[in-house]
Amino acid sequence: MTVNIALPKGRLAEKTLALMKRAGILQDVGDPGRKLVFEDEGGMVRYFLVKPWDVPVYVERGVADIGVAGKDIVTENCPDVYELLDLKMGKCRMCVCAKNGYVDRPGSKLRVATKFVNTAKSYYSSLGRRIEVIKLNGSIELAPLMNMSDVIVDLVETGTTLKENDMGVVNVIAEISARLIANKTAYRFKREEIDKITSLLGALVNENI
Ligand code: PRP
Repeated sequence: MTVNIALPKGRLAEKTLALMKRAGILQDVGDPGRKLVFEDEGGMVRYFLVKPWDVPVYVERGVADIGVAGKDIVTENCPDVYELLDLKMGKCRMCVCAKNGYVDRPGSKLRVATKFVNTAKSYYSSLGRRIEVIKLNGSIELAPLMNMSDVIVDLVETGTTLKENDMGVVNVIAEISARLIANKTAYRFKREEIDKITSLLGALVNENI
C-alpha cells in the first residue's frame, strides 16, 4: 500500500528530504521547484510539500498517513495523531525573550507577543501569571523593540536574531525538534509500512547521522 507523507517546506525541507533519501524511503529527491505532489518511483510512497503549520492538519485528516512536524507546532495545536519518533533534527528552543535590560514587574499584566498563543497561555497559566497575548505571524522580535509587548514567546535556534536586536532569553520553555507523526486510522491499516518507515528513520536518527 502506498504511504502518503506530508513534509514541511521551508527551513526543515532540505534536511527532511535528505533524511528520507538516506533512509531509502525516497529514491530521487531533486529540486522540487514549485511542484507540490511527488510520486516516488517504486510507488511505495507519495509525498506532498506543505507549510510546516499544515503538516499536522493533513495528517490528522488522513490525507497524509504520516508527516514530519516540529514539536512546537504539535504542542501548540495538539492534533489527534500519534507521535512516532523524535527525528532529532530542526533542534531549537521555545523561549521567553526580552530586550536586554528588561525588568519584569511581577504583579503586572504581562504583554506577550507570539505565534504560539496556546503555548504562551499554558506556560504563564502554570506560573499563575496574568498575560495579554498579542498574536503575530512573524518577526516576533519586533514587538518588544517597538514597545508593543514586554516579552515574546518564540523559537530560538542560533540566537542570531536575538543578538542582532539586542535581546536575550529570559526562560527556556521547551526543547524542540522535528517529530514523525501518524494518522491514527492509517496507523491501523498501514501498520507494516509505517513501522518499516519508522524503523528505517529510527536507525539513522540513533546513529546520529
Ligand atoms: C524564527 C523565529 C525567530 C528566528 C530564530 O523565525 O521566530 O525569529 O527564527 O532563529 P535564530 O535563533 O537562528 O536567529 P523565522 O526565521 O522562521 O521567521 P519568522 O520571523 O517569519 O517567524
